Amino acid sequence: MNPDWTLRPVTPDDFPALAALWALSRPGVTAEGIQATDARRDPAHTLRRRLLANAAGEAVGASQLQTFAFAPPGFLQAQVVVDPRFRRQGAGEQLWADAVQAGREAQASGLTLDVADDDPGSLAWGTRRGAVVKVHRFASELDLTAFDAAPFEASLAWAAAQEVTFTDLEGAGDDDIERFVNFVADRLTETPDLRGHPRWSLAEVRRLLRLNASPRPDWWVLAVGPQGEWLGTSILESFQRQNFGYNTLTAVVPEARGRGLALPLKLQVIAQAQAAGLPLLRTNNHSGNAPMLAVNQRLGYQSRTGRFEVHVTL
Ligand SMILES: CC(C)(COP(=O)(O)OP(=O)(O)OC[C@H]1O[C@@H](n2cnc3c(N)ncnc32)[C@H](O)[C@@H]1OP(=O)(O)O)[C@@H](O)C(=O)NCCC(=O)NCCS
Repeated sequence: MNPDWTLRPVTPDDFPALAALWALSRPGVTAEGIQATDARRDPAHTLRRRLLANAAGEAVGASQLQTFAFAPPGFLQAQVVVDPRFRRQGAGEQLWADAVQAGREAQASGLTLDVADDDPGSLAWGTRRGAVVKVHRFASELDLTAFDAAPFEASLAWAAAQEVTFTDLEGAGDDDIERFVNFVADRLTETPDLRGHPRWSLAEVRRLLRLNASPRPDWWVLAVGPQGEWLGTSILESFQRQNFGYNTLTAVVPEARGRGLALPLKLQVIAQAQAAGLPLLRTNNHSGNAPMLAVNQRLGYQSRTGRFEVHVTL
């Protein structure tokens, strides 16, 4: 451990330095983005944020420990990043030891971390500390300025032939919103990401849908069967200060799978995003989610760098 380094709590003045560190492994993170996320969240979610600074006041590295709705039960999400100029000098170990201790104090059963899939050095570093790779995910992007829905007319016709219609929740009353919150809660644990996890509380689903902040029910698309039954959903969102749309969740109820409904659901989201003037649509995929990967490929999504989710048992 370098005696000239100080490990201290992060203050809002450190956000630019913190953002620069997070952006090393997650491009696009900004100080404003961190601030906006904090403003949306219950402060109790962030359990610890530490900055390691050298004698000149430069940020050497940072760590964070927080609750995370997608983490397995009992797990906390940890982040440890060291500025490449200061790597292999013990900074990572110092930040890691502190985060692990804090995790134990919070009685977490484990930590989940993300590592870029093109950074074998960092993955090896984590593996040497007991991290086990659980999932590989990657982002993919669709250029909306060039997207043409014409080749997919047959998919829409097939849905129409099954008397499936597509709508959204614009102007929906409280009952339908409540029904949708429950519908999403049921769908979440059917995704590869959350299979086996307990059903999310409705408060968590409401947070995901930003019901208390800036909900966009007009961007919550539904596939509806002939009896009015909800067969699937696809959700669009757009983050403040980021000029792209994000397709959060696309899900079809188990009974309606295999009927070609995912693609037309996604087409509605694409149309919504295009209508909103968004030039790009992004989504994240679980590498094991073959049906969704196939749909995205047909639509023309291009894969970007991926991430490993690693778990450390405490
Ligand atoms: C992973 C990461 C945090 C490691 O940071 P780091 O500061 O290089 O970590 P350390 O210096 O503590 O450890 C790196 C190695 O350098 C060695 N080292 C420590 N001091 C050293 C020194 N003075 N001279 C030479 N080597 C040294 C350590 O022994 C360690 O080897 P080990 O893993 O076999 O024990 C960094 O690569 C990073 O920021 N990656 C991107 C973010 C990320 O993916 N984080 C999650 C990882 S699970």
